[in-house]
Amino acid sequence: MIDKIKNYIAEVEKFSASSQEEIENFRIKFLGKKGILNHFFAEFKNVPNESKKEFGQTINQLKNAAQDKVNQLKEELESKLEEKGVYGDLTRTGESIEIGARHPISIVKNQIIEIFSNIGFNVSEGPEMEDDWHNFTALNLPEYHPARDMQDTFFIQTDPDILLRTHTSSVQVRYMEDNKPPIRTISPGRVFRNEAISARSHCIFHQVEGLYIDKDVSFADLKQTLLYFTKQLFGKSKIRLRPSYFPFTEPSAEIDIYWGLENETDYRITKGTGWLEIGGCGMVDPNVLKNCNIDPKEYSGFAFGMGIERIAMLLYQIGDIRMFYENDIRFLEQFKSSI
Ligand code: PHE
Repeated sequence: MIDKIKNYIAEVEKFSASSQEEIENFRIKFLGKKGILNHFFAEFKNVPNESKKEFGQTINQLKNAAQDKVNQLKEELESKLEEKGVYGDLTRTGESIEIGARHPISIVKNQIIEIFSNIGFNVSEGPEMEDDWHNFTALNLPEYHPARDMQDTFFIQTDPDILLRTHTSSVQVRYMEDNKPPIRTISPGRVFRNEAISARSHCIFHQVEGLYIDKDVSFADLKQTLLYFTKQLFGKSKIRLRPSYFPFTEPSAEIDIYWGLENETDYRITKGTGWLEIGGCGMVDPNVLKNCNIDPKEYSGFAFGMGIERIAMLLYQIGDIRMFYENDIRFLEQFKSSI
C-alpha cells in the first residue's frame, strides 16, 4: 500500500495543467471528499500497528504534495491571466510606428553646431525675454541710438524695458560677462522682430551668432573661419565681405557667398548676380568688450550672425519662410531622410 501511495506522490509531482478546470479535477481526485487521500485515511485503521507510523508519514507527504501542487498551479494560471490583462495578446502582430522627422530648422541648426564644434566652438544659450542692457546697451546701442530702429522690437514691459530679444547677440554679452577669454562660442536661438510677415520675412525666426575672443584675433581669422564654414555647409568656396555697419562691430561687413549662376533658380535667388548674402559680421567693438569687463587693449575678437531659416531655404530650396511655422505634415515629412 505504501508503494501505491509513493506512486501517487510521483504522479502529483509530474502533474501540470493549463486551465482552471484541469486544476479543479486534479484537486477533486486527490483532495476531494471521495478522493484518494480520504480513501487512504479511511484505510488507516486497517494498517497493522508496526506500519502505522510509516503509512501516516507517507500519506501526509501525498497530502502536502497535492495541496502545494494545486496552489502552485493556481498561482501560475493567475499570473498568466494578469499578464494578458496588461499586455493583451502577446502573440498579436505589432502596430507599425511612424518614424518622425526632425524639423528642417533643427537639422540645419545641428549641422551648423557640428561644423563649428569641429573647430573648437561650444554652444551657449540665453533667455528669449531680455532686458535692455543685454539686447541693446551693452552692444554699444545706448538709449536713443538711431540704430535701435534697425531691429523693430516687441516690448513686454517698459521702464525698465523688458523685450523679446531681437538677436542672439544678447547671449554673447551674457557669455562674455560670465567667462574669461579665450572665448569661442556659437549661440543658436529664436529671435523676434516686429516685422510684417511675408514669404521672405517672419516676426519669429532663428539665428546663429558666433563669437571668438582671444589675444591677437584679426579680421583674417574671421574671414578664414567663415570660409571654412561656407565650404562645409554649402560646398561653396568663394565668399566676399562687403563693408557694412553694425553698432557692435567695427569694422563691420555683410557676408556674401558666391552661389553660382548655373541654372534658372540660381539666377532667381541671386537676382542675376551669383552672390547671396547670408549674414553679418565684424570685429567686436572695443566698447562692447569694455561693457563686458574684457580689456580691449589685451583682447580682440570677431563676431558673426546669420539666419537659420534663410540658410535652410537655400539648402532645401524652400520658397516661403512661413512654411517653417505652419506645421504641415506634408511639408515636414519631406525631411525624414535627413539627420
Ligand atoms: N546681430 C546682428 C543681427 O541680428 C548680426 C551680427 C552679429 C552682425 C554679429 C555682426 C556681428 O543683424
